[in-house]
Amino acid sequence: MNILITGGAGFIGSHVIRLFVNKYPNHHIYNLDALTYAGNLENLEDIENEPNYTFIKANITDADTIESLFSLYKFDSVIHLAAESHVDRSITDPLAFVNTNVLGTINLLNAFRLLWGSDFKGKLFYHVSTDEVYGSLGKTGLFTEATSYNPNSPYSASKASSDHFVRSYGETYGLPYIITNCSNNYGPNQFPEKLIPLFINNILNNKPLPVYGDGNYTRDWLYVIDHAIAIDLVFHQGKIKETYNIGGFNEWTNIDLVKLLCAQMDKKLQKNPGTSEKLITYVKDRPGHDLRYAIDASKISKELGWKPSVTFEEGLKLTIDWYLNNDIWLNNVTSGDYQSYYQKQYINS
Ligand code: NAD
Ligand code: DAU
Repeated sequence: MNILITGGAGFIGSHVIRLFVNKYPNHHIYNLDALTYAGNLENLEDIENEPNYTFIKANITDADTIESLFSLYKFDSVIHLAAESHVDRSITDPLAFVNTNVLGTINLLNAFRLLWGSDFKGKLFYHVSTDEVYGSLGKTGLFTEATSYNPNSPYSASKASSDHFVRSYGETYGLPYIITNCSNNYGPNQFPEKLIPLFINNILNNKPLPVYGDGNYTRDWLYVIDHAIAIDLVFHQGKIKETYNIGGFNEWTNIDLVKLLCAQMDKKLQKNPGTSEKLITYVKDRPGHDLRYAIDASKISKELGWKPSVTFEEGLKLTIDWYLNNDIWLNNVTSGDYQSYYQKQYINS
């Protein structure tokens, strides 16, 4: 089988690529990625020479190129992760999110359809999405697969739109799809614009930890490798035209999470308890900030037997260890453009 994985040089995509390349030597894995600021081939150095792996640098917004790549490589299945993924960037540049997340997804759907016509036997378009499409929960309740879409940020609106297009191609053209909506991921290789790696990097550099608003926003955290394992399971055993929610059964307010992270960092760096917490700085809130996300993952759990394999405390330790052991990776991604992003987002705002 020829499997196209888009966005494979990014955070989650690189873990999915590694899992598939190592686990399925008889499948050929194509990693299509534009290598934006978030894409990094250093994430895949350990598997880049494997015979069942090919990297293709291409942009999913370029319909002609995408069409010719499908015609050349005859992808049997697609696992689509490529996206603009950071909510804060979507607030400053919504169009970039429409282009990649909406138009890019439609280009892939069109190319898949053009290649296979209406003979989709054994084919699958797997769309990786987010719990943010459901909007915000109050203090109680969980997102189920039946929760109505109610996106609040340009990022989540673009992902919601892409989900709708995927589903519509299923209904209109019979294109076989599965969608998964996952909660917040954390772990190795995450670009340090997202909460956990940003704060690890700031603690290492003795910089303020910018907590938005009062810090009482809640997220449901999942270790990235557990997400990759869920994607593998859904890809092979999920039902066509179904949606599966994936979550960590692991809710934390941002402020409690940051305090736990600070305590673990102090221990690891042999600093006095309380040292890193002193860096916590409350800053202006994110506009349209969703109060709470929490996933009911009972469907994937009951139907496919999936559950997270590591506790949050273990996952956080593994994550901290990875960033401490990969200072070259961290230095490479935080030099250059990152500095001007940081300046605009946190210092000039
Ligand atoms: P990421 O930002 O780390 O990686 C995105 C990848 O897509 C990068 O390698 C980038 O180069 C590539 N890309 C971006 N625009 C492209 C384009 N136009 N053409 C080709 N490649 C392009 O993102 P991530 O956190 O790994 O998220 C991956 C997917 O999972 C996204 O679809 C995201 O919406 C979804 N998701 C993420 C999370 C999370 O917590 N990170 C949770 C749920 C779902
Ligand atoms: O829920 C899934 C989503 O999780 C994914 O779809 C997105 O791709 C991913 O980026 C993530 O979105 P969030 O907006 O929840 O993640 P982020 O790490 O940006 O923020 C997590 C929480 O921390 C959120 O409530 C905002 C807050 N925060 C974030 C940053 C970057 C801060 O308080 N300060 C910060 O500097």
